[in-house]
Amino acid sequence: MTLNFPNYLLNNGIEMPAFGLGVYRMPPQETIDTVKGALASGYRMIDTAAVYGNEREVGAAIAESDVDRSEIFVTTKLWISDFGRDSTFKAFDTSLQKLGLHYVDLYLLHWPLHDEFSLTVESYQAMEEILTQGRIRAIGVSNFQTDHLRQLAQEAATVPAVNQIELHPYFSQPEMRAYHHTQKIMTQAWSPLGGVNIYDATDPGKERHVLTDPVLLGIAAGRQKTPAQVILRWHLQHGISIIPKSTRMERILQNAAIFDFSLSEKEMIAIDALDTGSRGGPHPDEGSRERFPYEVPV
Ligand code: A2P
Repeated sequence: MTLNFPNYLLNNGIEMPAFGLGVYRMPPQETIDTVKGALASGYRMIDTAAVYGNEREVGAAIAESDVDRSEIFVTTKLWISDFGRDSTFKAFDTSLQKLGLHYVDLYLLHWPLHDEFSLTVESYQAMEEILTQGRIRAIGVSNFQTDHLRQLAQEAATVPAVNQIELHPYFSQPEMRAYHHTQKIMTQAWSPLGGVNIYDATDPGKERHVLTDPVLLGIAAGRQKTPAQVILRWHLQHGISIIPKSTRMERILQNAAIFDFSLSEKEMIAIDALDTGSRGGPHPDEGSRERFPYEVPV
């Protein structure tokens, strides 16, 4: 089966697939086969990050696949331990080297450093320089709140093309989406299936399982689709870009089979109503080196 995904137009004129594969929490040893499988079945966007520790394997999968590099949209992210002008240039070169690529399609600041925002801006300005050199096709941010975006706008010339944020039916971020819309920033959902509510649950028993929510089960049964497909379709109908992660080929295919049905307005509203306003992952204002003491794996 070959899939054919629509593209979204970013604010700098670059086209980005609406849908791709996320590789967060994907062990390096599983990444090569998974990414190759996704590419072979038609996926054209892969979302990784320096701190995920699997850029090398993503690059190897791209090199080994039959798909031309120019047809693949590759995103990676600058980790906070590399924030600062010179370290950004260095970290970007390291990412390119690990990926084995000459350019990346989208480069994101992984988190804002909330209390060291000048360093966050410094990194973004370095990314603007790399963009000008043509080694990145679009730059953006991740986990930014509106205040972070406003502060950045005062100091940077380039409006981020993308803000990648936690977004799923239990935390659907209507205000952020509306703000992005006014700024022409593409909303990209991390953990679009709400996996974060399970792997980041603070206590056993506090997990929230979006995929078994009765409303979603009901809609899925009526449409002869799975809850995951209904959720992913809901994102797309809101114009949100999605990067669901799976290491299982049958799910990779299932997640992509969402272009042969549409949700009604009533179904969309029913899913919108599941928003709890409560996130599963860390709050962006917690972005600090103490909160995230991780280093980029060598
Ligand atoms: P697995 O990798 O074992 O398939 P999110 O991207 O929202 O964080 O969700 C990722 C989680 O959801 C992973 O644990 C992944 O597990 C699981 N997952 C991905 N696709 C599906 C699916 N179609 N049905 C059920 N679980 C899924």
